[in-house]
Amino acid sequence: MSRKKVTVVGGGFVGSTTAQRIVDLELADVVLTDILDGPPAGKALDMLESGPITRTDSRATGVSTATGDYSATAASDVVVITAGFPRKPGMSRDDLLKANYDVVKAVVEQIVKHSPNCIIIVVTNPLDAMAQAAFKVSGFPKNRVLGMAGVLDSARMSSFVATECKVSVENVHSFVLGGHGDDMVPLPRYSTVAGIPLPDLLPKERIDAIVERTRKGGAEIVNLLKTGSAYYAPSAAAVEMVEAILKDKKKILPCAVYLDGEYGIKGLFVGVPVKLGAGGAEEIIQIKLTAEENAALEKSSASVRELVNVLGL
Ligand code: LAC
Repeated sequence: MSRKKVTVVGGGFVGSTTAQRIVDLELADVVLTDILDGPPAGKALDMLESGPITRTDSRATGVSTATGDYSATAASDVVVITAGFPRKPGMSRDDLLKANYDVVKAVVEQIVKHSPNCIIIVVTNPLDAMAQAAFKVSGFPKNRVLGMAGVLDSARMSSFVATECKVSVENVHSFVLGGHGDDMVPLPRYSTVAGIPLPDLLPKERIDAIVERTRKGGAEIVNLLKTGSAYYAPSAAAVEMVEAILKDKKKILPCAVYLDGEYGIKGLFVGVPVKLGAGGAEEIIQIKLTAEENAALEKSSASVRELVNVLGL
């Protein structure tokens, strides 16, 4: 069996941590790319040199794509796109949207050329709109373009629940739907501790506080870091998706996928439960929502639609 190959586009904190986790777990050989010349090669070499200690034979290489040459990424099984601008002071949401659209578009055009059969996982923000951009630009079938966010948002919720209930994080299972924004939709009814639904365990105000903290989870980290946004949990989330795909696990995870009428949403990337396997998003799992949950999902998808409309996608 030949080795699997994963390209991680963008050698910032999210990209390099993603590459490191894949190498440490010996999931695949990794190509880390960045428009900078030197840093991706240096980071990859550093990872390679940790292999004898961490006992991994996965090989990391780093390349600069400043010249537009993506040939080193050829025949990747999975491509994780983390490249993009962080939001800077004075930059509007739409400015960021357009700037990152240009980045994702340019990257995807090259990726498709060199890895026509890969599965794309988009991590660049604004997540759902960038996944939609990658889908449109790639021309790939909808099962081969995914956005990472639900896994991250659910992990944040689970960590808060575990802390609140003083139990192992392994006992907690959380479900968050919708777009990766302030109006994402954490679902307490489907979130459990050792199989027990959250509403049976915690008073409403504690659950509401956890939901609110989950929604603002990204901003909480940004405010603490001051320069930049989260990367440990985002990279862990992306790698859980990569692993499910490479190992054909048929694992159900919340991911942003192109909805074609599911959940009453058509022609838009929104986070829903998805079965991940070798084919990428192999099945969208539909669950029954209450009127209130449905309204929240509609609100969240309307926010995504607004961004997508700005880009004319
Ligand atoms: C977060 C941002 C980066 O949720 O999307 O951490």
